[in-house]
Amino acid sequence: MTKIKHALPNLKEARNRKKEETIRLSYELNKDYLHLGDNKTYHIFTYGCQGNEADSEVISGILENMGYKESNEPFTSDLIILNTCAIRENAENRIWGVLGQLKGVKRNNPDVIIGICGCMPQEENATNRFMEKYPHIDIIFGTHNIQNLPKLIAERVTTNNKVIEVISQQGNILEDAPKHRASKHKAWVNIMYGCDEFCTYCIVPYTRGKERSRDKDDIINEVKSLVEKGYKEITLLGQNVNAYGKDRSDNYTFGDLLFDLDKTGIERIRYTTSHPRDFDDKTIAAHRDCKSVMPHLHLPVQSGDNDVLKRMNRKYTHEQYIESIRKLKEACPDIAITTDIIVAFPGETEEQFQRTLDLVKEVQYDGAYTFIYSPREGTPAAKFEDQIEPEVAKDRLNRLINLVNEYYKKGNERFIGTVQEVLVDSFSKNGEGMMCGYTPHMKLTHFNANDASLIGKTVKVRIDEAKSWFVIGSLCE
Ligand code: SAH
Ligand code: SF4
Ligand code: F3S
Repeated sequence: MTKIKHALPNLKEARNRKKEETIRLSYELNKDYLHLGDNKTYHIFTYGCQGNEADSEVISGILENMGYKESNEPFTSDLIILNTCAIRENAENRIWGVLGQLKGVKRNNPDVIIGICGCMPQEENATNRFMEKYPHIDIIFGTHNIQNLPKLIAERVTTNNKVIEVISQQGNILEDAPKHRASKHKAWVNIMYGCDEFCTYCIVPYTRGKERSRDKDDIINEVKSLVEKGYKEITLLGQNVNAYGKDRSDNYTFGDLLFDLDKTGIERIRYTTSHPRDFDDKTIAAHRDCKSVMPHLHLPVQSGDNDVLKRMNRKYTHEQYIESIRKLKEACPDIAITTDIIVAFPGETEEQFQRTLDLVKEVQYDGAYTFIYSPREGTPAAKFEDQIEPEVAKDRLNRLINLVNEYYKKGNERFIGTVQEVLVDSFSKNGEGMMCGYTPHMKLTHFNANDASLIGKTVKVRIDEAKSWFVIGSLCE
């Protein structure tokens, strides 16, 4: 079988930030591809961040548009797509494992089409390995090539060749693509794509292209139409949502967007992720003044030590971070704050690690995602000297997790005895007669109820008990 190589990834090219205008594409399905998926099924495995989940909803929408139907039985589908994440080695290892499993699926059913997309194909090494060692992969496409998926599938079907299309340039903005949303009451809304921060450990700026913001009217109209369809909650997505608008000339900022979206009538607005450097007063004002902007902020700090922060290229200090939190808490005293922390960044000393623990004690986070630094090929930090021994890294991670968990539980305990509005997601896996959802502060809440009609509704729940990762409550009549 030969390979049709439309484009291959190139990390050097991906590093370039060109001044050219962002290309805005509108989606149109070539009518030749309209029935390509008739009587066929697909399944998408999604890994990584909410950005990938949102992309999978677009891929799903495009496939449904071609006639494909979603299947819950992944390994017997006619088309299997892996939407991958490259953020850490263990994220990639999971995917190599699933790819191994898929070899057997292809052996049993040579007609199955296997596609791989997302952040891994954007890495030169990963794509070379896909091509050399995984001959059962039929289609490899990148994060900037989603709109061409129908063409790539058609090529694979009509020529029986493997097809590869991974461009590494700046990236575009795809408007009007069909979306097959996973939830009927909560929706992802992309507001910007890409990242120009280049934190020295991170692969995302290479896999997602330059920072580019959607037009505010496109975002507002999308949210208005979600409200009309009965959606209750939106999560605004971007790798650095606070940089929204910086690539545009109208001085319209993320804070302005929050104030405008508050007027659309959507019940709940969340967003992720914020960069502390760009976290501004207007955003704090939106938390204070807009009823729909939920009292939860995820503000990744990564480290509490100024030297480490500098070598990470985070462009803020421990003190500046604490000052942002102080201002925010002054405006919204009960806000829940969560974060991301990396331990064992190259050269991190025990003393520097202690500064991270100090910061956790100062902020008293409601929760934190904690990671051991993982070298990513092509990023500056992968070449830094003094990579930390795995045992030291694990020890630091454990100590950090213990501390974080203490505050996690305290953050839950503060709600005991209060009545919270819970947007109901589903029946709970926590036991018979229980359902679950989230409070405004993003506390996962299990409560006594057994009524499918509550899903997608906001109900009042009295919080009775706090566990480390969730709270338990009783439904108020
Ligand atoms: N754009 C977001 C999220 C990026 S990825 C942000 O800037 O916060 C999510 C988290 O993964 C990061 O916050 C960071 O804590 C972690 N991460 C990124 N690259 C990593 C690496 N090479 N090793 C370990 N953790 C990493
Ligand atoms: Fe990665 Fe930093 Fe961009 Fe977040 S802000 S995606 S950590 S480079
Ligand atoms: Fe992973 Fe790519 Fe998101 S590397 S975290 S899927 S941007």
